[in-house]
Amino acid sequence: MKKYDLLIKNGVVVTTTDMYACDVAVKDGKIAAMELNMDEAEAEKVCDVNGKLVLPGALDVHTHLQMPFGGTVSADSYLSGTRAAACGGVTTIFDYPVQHAGETILGLVNSKKEILEQDACVDYAMHCCITNLNDGEILEEMEQAVAEGITSFKCFLVYKKEGMMVDDATLARLLIRAKELGAMINVHAENPDLIDLNIEKFLKEGKTSAWYHYLSRPEFVEAEADKRAVHWAKHLDAPLYIVHMADKEGLEACIEAKRQGAEVYVETCPQYLEFTCDVYKREDGRNFVCSPPIKGQESQDALWQAIKAGLIDTVATDHCPFQSYEKDWGKDDFTKIPNGCAGVENLYPYMLDAANTGKISFQRVVALCATTPAKIFGCDNKGSLVVGKDADIVIYDKDKDFTITLDSMHSDYDHTIWEGKQLHGYPVQTYLRGQLVYDNGEFVGKPGMGQYIKRSPKK
Ligand code: URP
Ligand code: ZN
Ligand code: ZN
Ligand code: ZN
Repeated sequence: MKKYDLLIKNGVVVTTTDMYACDVAVKDGKIAAMELNMDEAEAEKVCDVNGKLVLPGALDVHTHLQMPFGGTVSADSYLSGTRAAACGGVTTIFDYPVQHAGETILGLVNSKKEILEQDACVDYAMHCCITNLNDGEILEEMEQAVAEGITSFKCFLVYKKEGMMVDDATLARLLIRAKELGAMINVHAENPDLIDLNIEKFLKEGKTSAWYHYLSRPEFVEAEADKRAVHWAKHLDAPLYIVHMADKEGLEACIEAKRQGAEVYVETCPQYLEFTCDVYKREDGRNFVCSPPIKGQESQDALWQAIKAGLIDTVATDHCPFQSYEKDWGKDDFTKIPNGCAGVENLYPYMLDAANTGKISFQRVVALCATTPAKIFGCDNKGSLVVGKDADIVIYDKDKDFTITLDSMHSDYDHTIWEGKQLHGYPVQTYLRGQLVYDNGEFVGKPGMGQYIKRSPKK
């Protein structure tokens, strides 16, 4: 028996602050040593990466796998979604199971765990979407949920008709309770009444194309709810995580709250960084329909500027793809388009391309996609290449050009908003706790390899 199971030789390790030549040795799924010129004879298996980048596996902290939504179920199952994740360098996904009327948190989470235990190809955690307090029972149950590693809960400030929205009083109760327990509330912030008002008006006027999805929930509709959520969190002194931030005004409110010392975290998504609302004018505009919708150039510029300044904490995908025929339900009525787009396999390659082409640094990408999400959400063994942490490792070839096509993806969807996107540099291998799960275009892992991540509460 040799000292190490795996030795990754001659790589350039990337952390949030540094890039340096170093070998990485793995034993029993953990990083066991990081030194220069380690002895190949000490490892069962040696992988010479010849100057390629060695990165921590990414955490996609926002996915919706096999989620009942929009009159159907999102197109990626726990199996196909986590398989795609592995092939994009994501070694941990966070799912968002949604509580239905009367359901308990642990009942819901355990039902999802049963499927994930069989199907997950990467490690997984769950934020739980709370839609109803069940006469206060949920506030009690949160304590046990936190003890079992569910340390974040989501509130939708929208989706009223879908029965998923919570009112301000529920949001306030949850913020207070989460704080008591060392947990955190994540919010989807848009104003439902403004949206309904706009939808009613547009449908009456016969304005039914995907462009009106955007116009019914433009920048200020998101900003109102961002500001409301931040206001509550600030005055209740409770931590808050705003998911899929897409608008400049709301972003600025969060940045100001951070400046004042509030514990407010901001997540944005690759679709908001790559596209503008002009996509909704395209013939296939419905394929880009997600909520909040993709905004105008000014918002996109503000998001990039905040990323560069370190004022956005995480980039995650909101992966929630639907098939073409489902998107087509809304050809003549934008309100019938299932909301959501694909991204889990594109997150890390897209952000790393931004680094490789000089827009941001590789260190920033590691912070946004791995180290910071792991820290914010209590994944103590994830998110950085440090001795003792899980050996979730991505090997990245800066010289490999890659064009995203449906055929080169590993999901179950039949189209992608990323079709044709050219990337300079691409991941060539992904290791999940030291085991190779992705190798040069092929998924080589197995369903069931993924493990549940029991997360730590805030101290
Ligand atoms: O359009 C989206 N984002 N679909 C998924 C559900 C959500 O709001 O995150
Ligand atoms: Zn959302
Ligand atoms: Zn105030
Ligand atoms: Zn989402």
